Amino acid sequence: MTNHVYVAASLDGFIATREGGVDWLSELPNPDGSDYGFSAFMSGIDAVVMGRNTFDQVFSFDVWPYDRPVFVLSTSLDCVPEAVARKAEIMRGEPKAVVEQLARRGYSNLYIDGGKTIQNFLEEDLIDELIITRVPILLGDGIPLFGKLTTSLWFASRKTERLNEMLVKNYYSRVRG
Ligand SMILES: NC(=O)c1ccc[n+]([C@@H]2O[C@H](COP(=O)([O-])OP(=O)(O)OC[C@H]3O[C@@H](n4cnc5c(N)ncnc54)[C@H](OP(=O)(O)O)[C@@H]3O)[C@@H](O)[C@H]2O)c1
Repeated sequence: MTNHVYVAASLDGFIATREGGVDWLSELPNPDGSDYGFSAFMSGIDAVVMGRNTFDQVFSFDVWPYDRPVFVLSTSLDCVPEAVARKAEIMRGEPKAVVEQLARRGYSNLYIDGGKTIQNFLEEDLIDELIITRVPILLGDGIPLFGKLTTSLWFASRKTERLNEMLVKNYYSRVRG
């Protein structure tokens, strides 16, 4: 069972503006229309687990970007909008219980997304792989990628890529024991 994070963060560690905006990501020059490795990453994923705030943002996009089942963590929603009813469903519970429940359903490679959600999973030491693409912008404020942890977590650096002469993509694996 492997839980992955794949996220873009500003130089100062934010994944969105304070209002949840991610327009700064599409402001990057991308003349070749690269997906920066997203499809390759998704090919190893069974299901996406995202926080409700991230779902709200993704649902506002013109195109639903996932071809894998999406599980939306929420205590405030009982169901997803009809437009994505066959593609997404609501779940709730502690991260460990969510992972166990999805494993019983045959989903063992999970893509964990959303700031608060990633932080909750890290607090329970449930993240195995971190892929963080640093975008060379200082937002000054926003929704942070990382938060407080009760215990430090070590990761091994596996690979670094420089993309489009703008982005630095770092691959980390959790080191336990
Ligand atoms: N830069 C990037 O690559 C990137 C990637 C992902 C997201 N984002 C951005 O980050 C922002 C969202 O991050 P965020 O930190 O605000 O929040 P988030 O993690 O997306 O969502 C938090 C919400 O998820 C629900 N939740 C989380 N854990 C839960 C659990 N165990 N059980 C039940 N519900 C749970 C709660 O929703 P309820 O209030 O409904 O209970 C909580 O308020 C968006 O603006 C998004 O666009 C950026």
